[in-house]
Amino acid sequence: MPTILDGNRIRDAIKEELRPRIARLAAAKRPPGFAAVLVGNNPASETYVRTKTKTSQDLGMCSQKLALPESITTEELLAIVNHLNTRKDVDGILVQLPLPPQVDTKRILLSVAPDKDVDGLHPYNVGCLVAGLPALRPCTPAGILQLLQRYEIPIAGRRAVVVGRSDLVGKPVALILLERNATVTICHSKTTDLAGVCREADILVAAVGRPALLTADHIKPGATVIDVGINSLESREEVARIFRNSAEKLAAFERKGSVLVGDADPFALAERAGAYTPVPGGVGPLTIVMLMANIVDSAERHLEI
Ligand code: GUN
Repeated sequence: MPTILDGNRIRDAIKEELRPRIARLAAAKRPPGFAAVLVGNNPASETYVRTKTKTSQDLGMCSQKLALPESITTEELLAIVNHLNTRKDVDGILVQLPLPPQVDTKRILLSVAPDKDVDGLHPYNVGCLVAGLPALRPCTPAGILQLLQRYEIPIAGRRAVVVGRSDLVGKPVALILLERNATVTICHSKTTDLAGVCREADILVAAVGRPALLTADHIKPGATVIDVGINSLESREEVARIFRNSAEKLAAFERKGSVLVGDADPFALAERAGAYTPVPGGVGPLTIVMLMANIVDSAERHLEI
């Protein structure tokens, strides 16, 4: 039986470690401050930002959400970020992506003060990751490392294959695994013989956003599979095909109108992996708690505690 890597359990453990650090900051100076910037009405982004601000408030931080109109210009958004950069009570700034097409996303990410960039997406922080220097690190890759370490899955000397080369997950997770002495390969849409490359992996990270792309053909027996994909299936036929007519999944689809699946085929994971993250309940909870950890780290640096 494979080990199911329980992201909710690890999230709860990390939260409990953060609570006393937050209480200490609040007692000594002030609670950590977090500002989330949400542009427009993308429902997924609204949900993410609500969860991030609520989690930070539940932990005792001082957080605020800035909801801005879809029609905002790059210059207007730059002015808002610059103001947050100067505020002494704000330790972490997160600009939720994606931004509307008229906004220059790279300029916005570049404008966030690197010491408040709790997403770890500023080129300064990305550069530190490449150079092996301490800095704020992207949340999902940092969460994946926590998961591997806390389940005592060896990394050094292992073959790691990362499927997906995004700035948010694929590239930084590859760098973090390299830093821990894995032998790392990054695959993408132009990779030839994807299944053959994936089958070499002791640690296989799937971060492409393609429902159940990785099958038994891609998974070496006993491998650890980290599934970062959160794909919403909105057709009954797709649910029936991917979940092999599972009565439970079809009933969930009838009830909610959609069902989630990761980038790996859930049956292939159960049959071949040695350990894997479920979807939902695997990587997802860790992304948010690592954001909280970045805010606390940043507040401790700002308040010199
Ligand atoms: N959109 C989807 N994931 C993320 C994330 O981790 N950070 C930001 N800023 N936007 C996102």
